[in-house]
This record gives sequence, structure tokens and C-alpha cells, in this order.
Amino acid sequence: MKALSGKKILLGVTGGIAAYKAVEIASRLRKAGAEVHVIMTKAATSFVTELTFREITGQPVNTSMWDKVTNYNVEHIALANLADLVLIAPATANLLAKAAAGMADDMLTTTLLATKAPVIMAPAMNTNMYENPVTQDNIATLKRRGVMIIEPAAGHLACGAEGRGRLPEPADIVDYVCAYMGRTQNLAGRKIIVTAGGTIEPLDPVRYLGNHSTGKMGFAVAEALASRGAQVTLVAGPTFLKDPDAANIHTVRVESARQMREAVLSEYDSADGVIMSAAVADYRPQTVAPEKIKKSDDELVLHLVRNPDILWELGQKKQQQILVGFAAETCNVAEYACRKLAKKNLDFIVANDVSAKDAGFAVDNNRVQLYFRDGRSENYPLMSKRQLADIIVDKLETLLK
Ligand code: PMT
Repeated sequence: MKALSGKKILLGVTGGIAAYKAVEIASRLRKAGAEVHVIMTKAATSFVTELTFREITGQPVNTSMWDKVTNYNVEHIALANLADLVLIAPATANLLAKAAAGMADDMLTTTLLATKAPVIMAPAMNTNMYENPVTQDNIATLKRRGVMIIEPAAGHLACGAEGRGRLPEPADIVDYVCAYMGRTQNLAGRKIIVTAGGTIEPLDPVRYLGNHSTGKMGFAVAEALASRGAQVTLVAGPTFLKDPDAANIHTVRVESARQMREAVLSEYDSADGVIMSAAVADYRPQTVAPEKIKKSDDELVLHLVRNPDILWELGQKKQQQILVGFAAETCNVAEYACRKLAKKNLDFIVANDVSAKDAGFAVDNNRVQLYFRDGRSENYPLMSKRQLADIIVDKLETLLK
């Protein structure tokens, strides 16, 4: 079977001199087994003809929102939904700026905004344009949102300058795509439990103790696992997030720590691994008032009792399972995370400083350190939770081997 058999790749071509290399990219993608659909910007058509891509791909080529409709109902939405992956090569400075700003003023940017498929961009431009802080900021923004960037090569540019900005060789770009898509089935046959969100502990019929977790981190991990073929049980505390669409994610909704424990333990024996990103309440009110607690002039004292430590219990019962914990800290991050790693018998722990405004609870990004049981540690800068999820799943995959 070819590396990209059965995959539908949407190739976006923008208007730079490197657009001619996109023809070879389309050809190589097709030879690797992919069905290739091309969207060209208006500027790209000044460098290469639509006909060339149509002949190479055997598919209609889109160049405008106002083209005569061919195969699709609402063309940009259909293309956005159909793609398993969007590759933009070359991506000009203008395209990067528009994508970073969320603009949708042509077929390519509109489709880009509408797609949920993973996106890879290969920027190519003059060195000064590439190094301009505006372009670098746009690239950083796109990376934070999970766009994968293939860094341009250095060398002689069409404008006569020497430096970084050249589109990498088509073979290297297609290798990158194959490597990314090749990961897709690495976890087929593996069963992984993921926990997400916070637990809530009722006080009375209207009030509860809770925390700021939204489930974004855990849902991202579940999606990363599912995209590699794992069978995922996602045990989620209350969150506004909808059940993920993937057929291989089974979502179980719970509220309290004790419900989460039940749901995790019932799947644990047959699981290959557990990733606990949930913010589980350590304490719960000793009693739950049957009726709403009435306010009075006195102080209200709550008596709290310990909740089960789910991850500690999993660590005690551990057989074949790889155990991954999270540590939410506000100080002494390394020390506290390493203590949890040892105490809970984990394979590695993902530590995040939840006092940061731009990372941790509720936001789309995170900045973490990983601590492994053999003493190694790795630092990761701010990135999207989806990107981080892929890194965590890479580590899990290595340990499962
Ligand atoms: O959901 P988001 O808004 O995206 O936010 C993500 C996050 C900040 C919640 C996430 O990145 C995170 O840090 N999750 C762990 C939160 C936490 O409870 O950490 P902890 O240090 O208190 O617990 C350590 C580990 O033990 C965690 O894996 C936790 O799931 C587990 N635990 C904790 C208490 C308990 N009673 N049982 C547990 O299993």
C-alpha cells in the first residue's frame, strides 16, 4: 500500500515564484497514493496555469469563489470537509498574514477558515520578508493554533538575495506529509483512557465546589490519540465542549471524582495506557444537603473529606499500562511534579504552571515540562494544546513500543 493511499489532500498554491514547484509536489502526492485537490490564489495563476494542476491531479482546480460550481454544493465548505490534510506550498507572506488574521477573502483563505483538517504550511519568500518581525509573529500565531510550519531552506533566492526563504525541495515536503500521515495508524489496536475537565462536588442541589478546568487539554489529547488509530475512552467532567466526532473516541460524561474513578477503573484492566489531564477535586463536602442551604447571619463552615486519588490507585494496580499524569502547580513546579511522578508510580508527568495567564486552565495554549521516571526532563515553550497533545502522544507511543 502507498503511503498516502485513500487520503485526500487539499493543496493550496499561492503566488510566489516557487509556485512552479507545487506542480512537482502535486505529482509526488499523487504518486504516493493521495487524491489531490488544488486551490490556487489569483496571484498563483500568474506563475502556473490551472490546466497544469488539472492534468497532474485529474481533478478540477479552484481559483475563485465565483467559479462555475463543479462537483460540490458549497464549494469551499465541501473542500474544507473533504480534506484529510491541507498543505499550502508555497505559502507567501501575504497568505500567512491573512491566515493569522482569520481573513477569508478568497477561495483558499475561506476554505482554510472552514476546515478542521490538520494544516501544514511551507512558507517561501524573500529573506527580508521572511525575517520581518510581522511575518515571524504571524508564523508564531499560526504555530500556536496548531498549524505545522515547514521551515524554508537557505540558499540563493529568485530575487538574487542569499538567505532563508527558499521553498524546500518538493520531495522533502512530500516526505514531511507522508511522515505526518504515516503516524495515523501507529496506535491502531491500542486502548487508551484519557480524563479531561474538572470534577464538581455538590454541596446542595444548587451549589458545588469546582475548578477552572475546561477539558480543552484532555480533549486535544483524545483527538491526537484518535488520529493515530487508538481506541480512546474519554472520561470528561462537566465542560461546554461537545463530544469529539471521531468514531474511535467513546466519551463518558461524569461529574464527581468518585464517578470519574468508577468510569476509569471499569476500563483500566484492558487499557494500554491512561493519560490523566483532569483536574480532580482532592476534597468533597462531607455531606450533601438534600435541600438548598439557607443563608443565615452566621458563618458557614464546610467540612470536607478526602476524595480518592484516582491516579495513585492506578499506579498501585499497574500492570502493562503506561501511566501519564499532569501536575498543575503554581510554585516549585519541578519539585512537586517529580514528587507526584514517584508517588503515583507514573511513566511521565506533564507539569504546567497554572498561575500563568497565557497557559494552563481554560486557554487554547500550554507551556509545559515533561519529567520521566528515568530522571530525564524536557521543556516545551508555549504552543497550542493540540500541538502539545501530539508531543505527549509521541512520548506515549515510544513507551508503548
Ligand atoms: O482543562 P483545561 O482548561 O484545558 O486545563 C488543563 C489543565 C490545567 C487542567 C491540565 O493541563 C492539568 O494540569 N491537569 C491536571 C490538574 C490536576 O489536578 O493536577 P494535580 O497536580 O492536582 O494532580 C496530579 C495528577 O493526579 C493529575 O494527573 C490528576 O488528574 C491526578 N489526580 C489528582 C487528584 C485526585 N484526587 N485524583 C487524581 O487522579
